[in-house]
Amino acid sequence: MQSSQFISKINQRRKNGSQKMTGRVKKGLFIVLEGIDGSGKSTQVELLARRLRKKGLKVITLREPTEGRWGQKIRELSKERGSITPEKELDLFIKDRRENVLKNIKPALEAGQTVILDRYFYSTLAYQGARGIPLEKIKRRHQSFILIPDLVFIIDVPVTVGLKRIKDRPVIYRLFEEKSYLQKVRRIFLSLKDPECVVIDGRSSADAVGRKIWSLLTKKFPALK
Ligand code: ADP
Ligand code: TYD
Repeated sequence: MQSSQFISKINQRRKNGSQKMTGRVKKGLFIVLEGIDGSGKSTQVELLARRLRKKGLKVITLREPTEGRWGQKIRELSKERGSITPEKELDLFIKDRRENVLKNIKPALEAGQTVILDRYFYSTLAYQGARGIPLEKIKRRHQSFILIPDLVFIIDVPVTVGLKRIKDRPVIYRLFEEKSYLQKVRRIFLSLKDPECVVIDGRSSADAVGRKIWSLLTKKFPALK
């Protein structure tokens, strides 16, 4: 199916009330992958992008923290363990995200592209929430600019499984990866009740997880089949 035909079907479905909107014009499909480190998000972003491109959709893949100035700052600071307060961390992730929404996500969606995003504000709820910041406060801080995705796949694995998968990653990425902290992060991910969120068991093979994601996506958007 052509991108434009698909988009008009999706928007029809949104108009019928099955899709939560934020009041902004949105054309392309917006899909987010979430989960603890090592849950398999990046792998699934690529599998899904390939599948959607095969269907003729224009797909862009993005990730947060981004490669932009705030994302770079986050990575820089993460090298110095304990150098940053939860509040400061929250500020930086929000600045990075605001820029990502305004400069990358919104224009792409308005141009009819499908956006697949590796981490979004659910990561802030889970990771900065686990650092003690109330979830309501995090949500409030996003209200003025956030775009609600069509679907958020939260890939769930036990912390030991996630950590085992990423044991060879360079140390600078490991600031947020201590075990008990990640257990709190995982609990918050599993507690999220937003209607766009679905939890997927991430313990099976990457292909099996990919098939599950595809089946849920096409159930919600049958035009994709
Ligand atoms: P994340 O982006 O969530 O940190 P990745 O997709 O980078 O996770 O996966 C982390 C590691 O685990 C990679 O080496 C990847 O090849 C591997 N991996 C991904 N999904 C699975 C899976 N379902 N089963 C086993 N290994 C996986
Ligand atoms: P990243 O470098 O993308 O690592 P990964 O490949 O494991 O996803 O992300 C760095 C860390 O940033 C990751 O451990 C999760 C954390 N993070 C937050 O704490 N809050 C956020 O809002 C986001 C987007 C990420």
